[in-house]
Amino acid sequence: MSPFDIPLQTLGKAQLLQISEGAERSIYACDDYPALVFKRQKPWQERQLKSWDLKSFLLRNLPGFHTYHVSVEHKTYLRACLNGPLDLAALPIARIFGFVPSELGPLQICEKISLDGHSPGPTLNALGRKGVLADEDIAALSLFAQRLLQSQVPTHDVNGANIVKGADGNGGVRFVLVDGLGDVNLIPVRRYSAMVRRTRLVKRFDRFTKFGLVFDRQQFTFARAT
Ligand SMILES: Nc1ncnc2c1ncn2[C@@H]1O[C@H](COP(=O)(O)OP(=O)(O)O)[C@@H](O)[C@H]1O
Ligand SMILES: [Mg+2]
Repeated sequence: MSPFDIPLQTLGKAQLLQISEGAERSIYACDDYPALVFKRQKPWQERQLKSWDLKSFLLRNLPGFHTYHVSVEHKTYLRACLNGPLDLAALPIARIFGFVPSELGPLQICEKISLDGHSPGPTLNALGRKGVLADEDIAALSLFAQRLLQSQVPTHDVNGANIVKGADGNGGVRFVLVDGLGDVNLIPVRRYSAMVRRTRLVKRFDRFTKFGLVFDRQQFTFARAT
């Protein structure tokens, strides 16, 4: 069995165990597919919407808008595979294998980022809550930043909840982006401009001071704040 055997037939509710949750999706594991996670898009009724902002208004009133982000994410991932160097191991993004029907609705099939091959790895937020990051983590985070920049993949939500630590397959660790692919703005400037992509990433990485890190904008590396 390949580690990435994917389900082709409808998954039953009883096969799926919810392991995590974000604002937009519920995340499931399935014993038959230990290398994968399955993501279910929450309908707007299940989400905490604000009463006034545009996104909440569109979610309530535009049928199908709740799948907009996931469709942008999917297209962005496909473009990265088709246009990139095809060294998927160097792409610091969780692999996406398409969709599978289930009793819970359509599920997106993704590579599970894990340290031990079973349970999902910790997010950067979780590591930050535990205390200072290890040197090995800081080095892996620098590699993540550089690879994300080099990949030219547009992103819109690079934050500590969407970056997960996993094994790199060579006895070391890596950080991987599991969410926030693509430019979801009306005018997708980040898709076309390397300068804008870089600027936005720098802005995001500058905020990692909350993890006790300083970001070097020239080298695209992190160091421990002194
Ligand atoms: N591929 C993955 N491997 C391991 N954990 C994941 C993966 N995708 C998501 N997670 C976990 O589930 C949480 C929510 O997933 P995410 O895709 O970010 O949902 P949302 O779109 O609602 O923000 C993440 O913060 C992370 O803890
Ligand atoms: Mg998320």
